[in-house]
Amino acid sequence: MNNIVIMGLPAAGKGTLCQRLSEQYGFEHISTGEILRSEQAKGTKLGNMATRVIDSGGYMPDDIMIPMLKERVIASDNAVGFLFDGFPCTKEQAKHLHAFLFMRKQPIASVIFLDVKKNVAVERLLKRATIENRPDDTESAIVNRWNEYEQKTLPLIDYFSKLGLIETVDANGTTDHSHAQASVIIDRILNP
Ligand code: AP5
Ligand code: MG
Repeated sequence: MNNIVIMGLPAAGKGTLCQRLSEQYGFEHISTGEILRSEQAKGTKLGNMATRVIDSGGYMPDDIMIPMLKERVIASDNAVGFLFDGFPCTKEQAKHLHAFLFMRKQPIASVIFLDVKKNVAVERLLKRATIENRPDDTESAIVNRWNEYEQKTLPLIDYFSKLGLIETVDANGTTDHSHAQASVIIDRILNP
């Protein structure tokens, strides 16, 4: 069982890469953003809260996200491993994920950081806005998501570096370019 965390700015390509890697290797892709968007579509209490918080670019509270993630992992019977996309995005979430997987004897194998420049990311988001119509792809929500990311998520690079887990991928090129670099890392993890 190999668990891999994928990190990076909004539009670094986390979702796109995870989709390809899960097809290629059989990982289970857990995107907390997708879970929240499906709750929004169903109009649940959680979904309504998500609409208030994430559509303006804020982060959901840890005391909701941490149990949600743990339940999602426990409910799965997959044997290859998980790709965590969008989780953890705070220090508290990172500590919980690390301890939780460690206790399950399935520790985090690697944290792949998709390193993208802001101008590249914003171009992708504005383009996606014309295709997918995500309410958090407006200019003001993007600015808020960046602020949240810089304050709460960026410090995790240092946290995971100290644990010797960070691997950096240049995510400014094509999806093939990011995918090729990530595949090298994962092949090395799967065939040590
Ligand atoms: P989430 O859905 O995780 O959003 P995000 O982190 O802002 O990232 P995105 O999904 O926008 O980008 P991505 O990196 O997946 O890129 P993608 O592959 O789509 O979370 C949404 C919100 O939910 C958060 O803001 C927060 O409010 C809340 N939330 C989620 N998790 C949470 C948590 N743990 N705690 C608290 N709150 C939480 O690519 C983007 C676009 O670019 C696509 O159109 C794609 O086709 C294109 N593209 C991708 N790669 C390339 C490339 N190499 N070249 C050209 N185009 C590319
Ligand atoms: Mg995504």
